Amino acid sequence: MSKRTKEILSNMTLEQKIYHLEQLPTATFLTGGTYDIVTGPESKLKLKKDMIYDVGTTLNLVGAETMIDATSNYLNGSKYKIPLMIMQDVIHGHRTLYPINLGVAASFDRGLAKELAQMAAKEAALDGMSVTFAPMVDLVRDPRWGRVMESSGEDPYLNGEMAKATVEGYQGDMGKYNIAACVKHFAAYGAAEAGRDYNTVDISERTLREYYLPAYKSAVDAGVKMLMTAFNIVDGVPCVGNKHLVKDILRDEWGFDGVVISDYSAFEEQVTHGSCEDKKEAAYNAMMAGCDIEMVSSCYAEYLEELINEGKITMEQVDKSVLRILDLKEELGVLDNPYRSVDVEESKRVQLCPEHRALARRAAEESAVLLKNDNILPFSKDVSSVALIGPLGATGEIHGTWHCGGKASETISVFDGMKSILGDKVKYAQGCYAEYDSEDTSLLDEAVELAKNSQCVVLCLGEKQEYSGESYCRTDLELPQIQYKLLDRILEVNKNVAVVLFTGRPLAISRLDKTAPAILNMWMPGTEGGNACASLLFGDSVPSGKITMTFPRTLGQCPIYYNHYTTGRPKAQEDDEKFVRFTSCYLDVPNSPLYPFGYGLSYTSFEYSDLTLSNNTMNRTDTLVASVKVKNTGKYKAKEAVQLYIRDVKGSCVRPVKELKGFEKITLDVGEEKTVSFEITEQMLKYWNRDLEFVAEKGEFQVFIGKDSTCKPFASFMLV
Ligand code: NOJ
Repeated sequence: MSKRTKEILSNMTLEQKIYHLEQLPTATFLTGGTYDIVTGPESKLKLKKDMIYDVGTTLNLVGAETMIDATSNYLNGSKYKIPLMIMQDVIHGHRTLYPINLGVAASFDRGLAKELAQMAAKEAALDGMSVTFAPMVDLVRDPRWGRVMESSGEDPYLNGEMAKATVEGYQGDMGKYNIAACVKHFAAYGAAEAGRDYNTVDISERTLREYYLPAYKSAVDAGVKMLMTAFNIVDGVPCVGNKHLVKDILRDEWGFDGVVISDYSAFEEQVTHGSCEDKKEAAYNAMMAGCDIEMVSSCYAEYLEELINEGKITMEQVDKSVLRILDLKEELGVLDNPYRSVDVEESKRVQLCPEHRALARRAAEESAVLLKNDNILPFSKDVSSVALIGPLGATGEIHGTWHCGGKASETISVFDGMKSILGDKVKYAQGCYAEYDSEDTSLLDEAVELAKNSQCVVLCLGEKQEYSGESYCRTDLELPQIQYKLLDRILEVNKNVAVVLFTGRPLAISRLDKTAPAILNMWMPGTEGGNACASLLFGDSVPSGKITMTFPRTLGQCPIYYNHYTTGRPKAQEDDEKFVRFTSCYLDVPNSPLYPFGYGLSYTSFEYSDLTLSNNTMNRTDTLVASVKVKNTGKYKAKEAVQLYIRDVKGSCVRPVKELKGFEKITLDVGEEKTVSFEITEQMLKYWNRDLEFVAEKGEFQVFIGKDSTCKPFASFMLV
């Protein structure tokens, strides 16, 4: 804390301090508080009319001009004139959108994740933003949950690496173009039962620490300025009022002294959860846990003073929270200039500029995952005619649900992208509607006719973008039947078909995998999605993405993830296709997924050889080196994500069958070979033992290096 912020604090009235802890939507300052918030009219918040313009922070604002209006209205209406700090969900880009985060993770490229966050920060800062509510680092295992699209997947290490890169990107060394990051949703929001948003989370301390907490911790270690608590309960207590999570773990154990904010109206929802009698208890629990900002409810505003007068909350607690906010405002320059980096003209020049579009395009190319390819792709550009078919083929609505300032009209559709490579050789027919319950077959015949008269077919199937994202959960992960009907009819007349898949989550597409000759998963690829897709389909770029969340064969296998614990009755891998009674398996489906974690194909082939481990014993201070030679044995220059896994063979607690411990994305020319080396340290072998101490236990560890999580161990060592 600085002298300046301490002085500001010393001049603040109690009422002013309390309102400084409140956050309202920016629309409040554009409408004078008559705005409808997600949970009803803003008037239900029972805020004092004359204090609305003295809340400390605001959210959900897009556009430089709007920012200027809102800020000047705020300053005009404010009694005390402490500048407002503006926060926004800049999730996968601000105006120039890049692929959903599950896609960016598939790039296995930390540098790319960082560059993307930098680009988003610059665009957002020029619109006057100070903070983004990102990165979302919730570990996810249930594809029914709509918010898996915002996550980087099922692996704690990879999630942590992406979290770190993203935080460094937003907050890095870019002067006025920086914004602060806010890691969320603490904790374990991704473990919602049955994949239904906001639902119960029931998780052991071990699972929480081993799988779910590491990514938040990585963000904290990377210096993230803010953290958002989750909507859900953990061990029966809503996260916003959960002292064990926020005070004991985050503040005391990890030493985080940045700003903690609740999620939207989560203070008040403690009452709905039934863990608080009323809003007063909700305010008390949140303050005792260590939550500074109340997002869009009014528990602090209504009850904090009463709690102080009753001696339940101390003035020091309130002061500490206010100071954290003031310090962040000072650090970001908001105290010096309420308009911060807003710049209407520069923002127009920078947003969607060619460099940003090029980066978004590269990201979409590197996020795409080739799931299947029976020698179909890439198509030759010399084809005489191409049929582009499918409900997602000619729409800009493929940029993802958290589109912030981005627009479908600014997004390149697959049709646009293909036309710029093939000109008039490409013709489009919709074929069917994208709604999951559509049974309308009226568009089929036209599409089949087009396929019949074309040399090859690009078939764009999958989910509409609003089928994933907050509160968009599903119980059916299959493609809609009408899309299968379309595929079947097309295959009757043309076998030269590549399916382009759009999705915000892993889908259960066993049937598609059986029938489609090629499947290219583009996720929701962002503003430049169509150009990236066309480049990949026609060989101007080569797919290199690998999935970071397992694709199940069927929803009945979920949750399914690669780094699961060993059972006492495991089924042997060679028996995967059979039912073996009294082993851990199903009657009707194998245990293995459709596509495993880390999986993705290329147009070229890679040969892994000379796997070596520098020693087969390791002292606590040693560093072992595991290395591999990787050679490009195919016909295309391409990238490959090389993965290191380790298995702790025996522990005082059961250990996962393997865990990702390193990865490196390399580029190889045709015929080129590179050696990739990973260092193994004691720190990487630690886990939460039976007494919940974070230690590495002595004994055997197996080492695996390969192209995906199904790779086999090639060596082992003893930790002594
Ligand atoms: C609710 C979402 O859960 C959270 O991720 C988001 O940051 C806030 N709303 C603010 O928009």
